[in-house]
Amino acid sequence: LYPGPTEVGGVRLKNHLLLAAGILGTTGASLARILHNGAGGVVTKSIGPDPKEGHPGPCLIVVDGGIINAMGLPNPSAAFVDELAVLQGEPVVVSIFGGTPEEFRTVAGWFAGTASGLELNLSCPHAEGYGAAIGSDPALVEECTRAVASLGVPTWVKLTPNVADIGEIGAAAERGGADAVVAVNTVKAMRISTSLRRPVLGNRFGGLSGKAIFPIAVRCVYDLYEACSIPIIGCGGVSTADNVVEMMMAGASAVEVGSAVIDDIGIFAAIAKDLYSHDGIDAREIVGCAHG
Ligand code: DOR
Repeated sequence: LYPGPTEVGGVRLKNHLLLAAGILGTTGASLARILHNGAGGVVTKSIGPDPKEGHPGPCLIVVDGGIINAMGLPNPSAAFVDELAVLQGEPVVVSIFGGTPEEFRTVAGWFAGTASGLELNLSCPHAEGYGAAIGSDPALVEECTRAVASLGVPTWVKLTPNVADIGEIGAAAERGGADAVVAVNTVKAMRISTSLRRPVLGNRFGGLSGKAIFPIAVRCVYDLYEACSIPIIGCGGVSTADNVVEMMMAGASAVEVGSAVIDDIGIFAAIAKDLYSHDGIDAREIVGCAHG
């Protein structure tokens, strides 16, 4: 594969691989460490309009092929601005959330001067008033996207797989001025303790990530490629170079890696080594090549 740097959705990346939102993304030091370990860019943990502690525990369970989390968007809000100081000049995309277009614009404003781009989280499957409630309504998606994109910062919109027609939602983000869509956030899920006879997670529902959701993510990227003309960033269960190539063939111009980083911080360098040793393949030639 032709090695980076590459530009996707207005953001200059060192290679085609990014850290997905939510994993090791709460401090400047951990984000710098991920970049040092071979990521072409990083996305932060989602930041919202007010400091938030998150859901009561248990909020994370390991299942076959993945993880179910119900963190509940814990974040320090505006105080996070200070974490970016050590990352100046690096490809850092700040993930943001809010309950209204106005809140999205306020939070976006805090980072507009420092971030390489903003990723709108319209897709948390288990946060009341935030996330998927907004991300499944095309009119709201368009409005929230426009409120941020009009600031002139590269604007990515992260979508939920928990909708009937993800293409319709992607098209709404594009109308609102998004520079790219990111697919996908976690798949709504739950487990029940058979001994306690009640849901395992404190919040009952959570979001499934990891290898188990890779085929869902590929299908969503494929659908979006048919529905949108802005770049798509693939996310969901990616853990190998072959997964990255498959995502690209579905239509992704770059790929985010999340859960797999928990097991192996060296995964970016490992994937990049495999990816870029496929001599003679140019990423631009394989993006979307699985479409007839
Ligand atoms: O699965 C998720 N968990 N997706 C999000 O967007 C947010 C996160 C959380 O903090 O609960």
